[in-house]
Amino acid sequence: MSGKNIFLGLLLVAIVAAILTLRPESPDAEIARNLARKANLAESTRNIESPGIFRISDSLIAERDAVGDTWMLSQGNYSTLVDLPFPPPRDGVFPIGESVDDTDQRSNPGYLGADVCAECHRDRHKGFVETAHHLTSGRVVPGGIHGHFDGPGSGLATSDAALSFKMSNLEDRLVQTVSYDDWHLDIPMDVFTGSAKSGQTMLYWHGDGLYQTHVSYLTKVDSWIKSPGYDDTVAVYSRVIRDSCLECHITFIKRKQAPNFYHRDSAVLGISCERCHGPGETHVQYHRKFPEEKTSKHIIQPSDLTRQQQLEICAQCHSGSFKLLSDAFSFVPGQKLSDHHKAIESSASGASGVHTSNQLTRISMSECFQQSEMTCTTCHNPHENQRGNTKVFTQACIQCHQVEHCGMSAELGNKIVDDCIRCHMPLAKNADMQGAGADLLSVEMVDHYIRVVKEEL
Ligand code: HEC
Ligand code: HEC
Ligand code: HEC
Ligand code: HEC
Ligand code: HEC
Ligand code: HEC
Ligand code: HEC
Repeated sequence: MSGKNIFLGLLLVAIVAAILTLRPESPDAEIARNLARKANLAESTRNIESPGIFRISDSLIAERDAVGDTWMLSQGNYSTLVDLPFPPPRDGVFPIGESVDDTDQRSNPGYLGADVCAECHRDRHKGFVETAHHLTSGRVVPGGIHGHFDGPGSGLATSDAALSFKMSNLEDRLVQTVSYDDWHLDIPMDVFTGSAKSGQTMLYWHGDGLYQTHVSYLTKVDSWIKSPGYDDTVAVYSRVIRDSCLECHITFIKRKQAPNFYHRDSAVLGISCERCHGPGETHVQYHRKFPEEKTSKHIIQPSDLTRQQQLEICAQCHSGSFKLLSDAFSFVPGQKLSDHHKAIESSASGASGVHTSNQLTRISMSECFQQSEMTCTTCHNPHENQRGNTKVFTQACIQCHQVEHCGMSAELGNKIVDDCIRCHMPLAKNADMQGAGADLLSVEMVDHYIRVVKEEL
């Protein structure tokens, strides 16, 4: 790899770290802490005969971290390693894993997924399947996710020539092959998160444990990159996916055991209608039984709720970082969100990042919001993909404003008619990420604090 390529590679890595920076806890800190602890542990047990250490090949040693119950594969030089939630198999074949005891008895409260609604709400479903909500997670199938699986774009090198990754389609299964020295392992890509607006991160099952893969996809450059917060030469496949992460990206999953063991078959992927309308099972059963019934039963119509309750439907996932106070997936529209979520203070700023932006707090600061009954659906129709459709959003402004009332209309005339957004809701950088590298580490998103933005002039 040339110096320039390495530089570009590092640049990408930094960009994605920012774009996909995950919440609620910083993966950088979490991963760094774990690995430092493991390296220390390994150092101190290195020369001791123990069942937690075995040799994989002439150069590679596998060591178990009893505390985290993960395995580390290294050459004894801990700056390059592979971290796995199971003992590294010598033959490169992915181990299937076991089921854990079912200690969590929560059952699906009636989430069916959006496709069931199509039976009677065809038009609404047709528009909905194009939205980022519907597309934000799903089962990985060949052709169903972004990224290259053969040719030069299908690999990811690291700054250590001994460690590299290759994405490929092995008999209709998409895998990431991690190669370290003379050892390799095919890790399946089972579930994707992200509609690929900025990127996609893949998850995989080992038994009924759900983990994040090391390699992610970055849309801007159409390339594979290491997952956000990860080190270049530390291949982490042991990062657990908690339900607090899934809560914003899927409709429902039934957990077996903390932190990351699930009933795999219970997963309803994508964000379906039901996260805004409530579980649909009873509604569907009722209307199938009484097809003549024209008045809806057993489903939540958001416009019957109070303004605050309507806002909280969206705030489930669009009000910055939070701590869960109740079981994941237990909030139903109409309930009080504060009984389920505790906001994490630092995210209430103007922060604009994929996982730090807080549209509710920002829009609440606007005169428009304070002096009207505006909700999120004043501008957003959740049943259609409206991304980039400035005209539609401008129409929303015109519901309450006249073009002539804009201080710039005399000067700019027709030029402002189609686009109020660029001046009054400009793209904002992440205020929480100032300092070195701020430009790389920030994602531009629309600032929902509607106002006259002086500095844009
Ligand atoms: C077997 C037919 C059927 C299925 C399947 C069905 N619905 Fe309905 N739904 C109806 C009927 C009938 C109405 C009342 C007439 C109308 O508003 O279209 C209705 C109305 C609604 C309303 C409007 C409520 C109101 O008070 O205005 C919502 C929201 C709704 N359904 C959501 C869903 C969701 C979400 C699903 C999938 C989980 C779903 N429906 C599946 C038949 C069905
Ligand atoms: C509080 C809700 C919330 C949580 C928790 C959350 N996300 Fe997100 N995530 C979002 C939102 C909202 C966006 C999109 C913001 C935007 O419009 O660009 C997003 C964006 C993403 C994207 C980029 C999507 C794209 O299309 O570019 C990925 C990938 C992603 N999240 C993965 C994860 C993973 C993995 C976790 C858990 C470790 C997680 N998220 C936790 C709300 C959440
Ligand atoms: C992100 C939240 C969200 C999702 C997802 C969503 N809806 Fe809605 N839906 C709403 C809101 C909010 C309203 C209330 C009307 C409004 O404010 O636009 C609504 C209104 C409706 C209505 C009543 C329309 C009327 O005339 O009042 C029906 C029927 C409906 N949705 C069905 C569905 C179906 C079917 C799906 C999935 C295919 C779906 N919705 C997905 C938020 C959502
Ligand atoms: C269960 C969590 C959840 C709920 C509830 C939810 N959203 Fe989202 N929303 C997301 C996630 C996650 C994304 C990012 C999807 C992606 O790009 O992968 C998103 C993306 C969006 C986008 C960007 C769409 C695009 O094309 O880029 C808008 C706008 C949006 N949501 C508005 C709303 C509104 C309005 C409501 C309430 C009516 C709402 N959301 C409810 C999780 C949610
Ligand atoms: C639901 C009604 C409603 C909508 C929709 C709406 N506004 Fe407003 N807006 C108001 C009200 C009410 C005020 C305060 C009184 C006034 O200035 O007219 C206001 C004030 C403003 C102000 C002056 C703010 C200040 O701090 O002095 C601007 C600029 C503005 N709106 C722009 C917009 C733009 C741009 C949009 C579309 C993105 C929009 N508004 C959408 C109702 C609305
Ligand atoms: C006055 C109009 C208006 C209202 C009200 C509004 N939004 Fe937006 N929102 C926009 C515009 C304009 C965009 C940029 C969309 C685009 O260009 O695709 C946007 C984008 C978004 C995005 C995509 C990420 C980004 O920032 O680009 C999310 C998520 C979102 N809005 C959520 C919400 C939520 C949640 C609410 C309610 C708390 C809300 N919005 C209220 C106008 C509005
Ligand atoms: C080229 C940038 C630009 C565009 C486009 C633009 N505005 Fe403005 N708008 C401004 C500026 C600058 C001011 C403040 C003017 C002043 O103080 O004299 C303003 C002021 C306003 C105000 C506040 C008036 C007051 O005195 O309270 C409203 C309301 C408004 N704009 C609405 C809109 C609407 C609606 C649109 C879209 C049809 C729009 N603007 C498009 C730049 C713009």
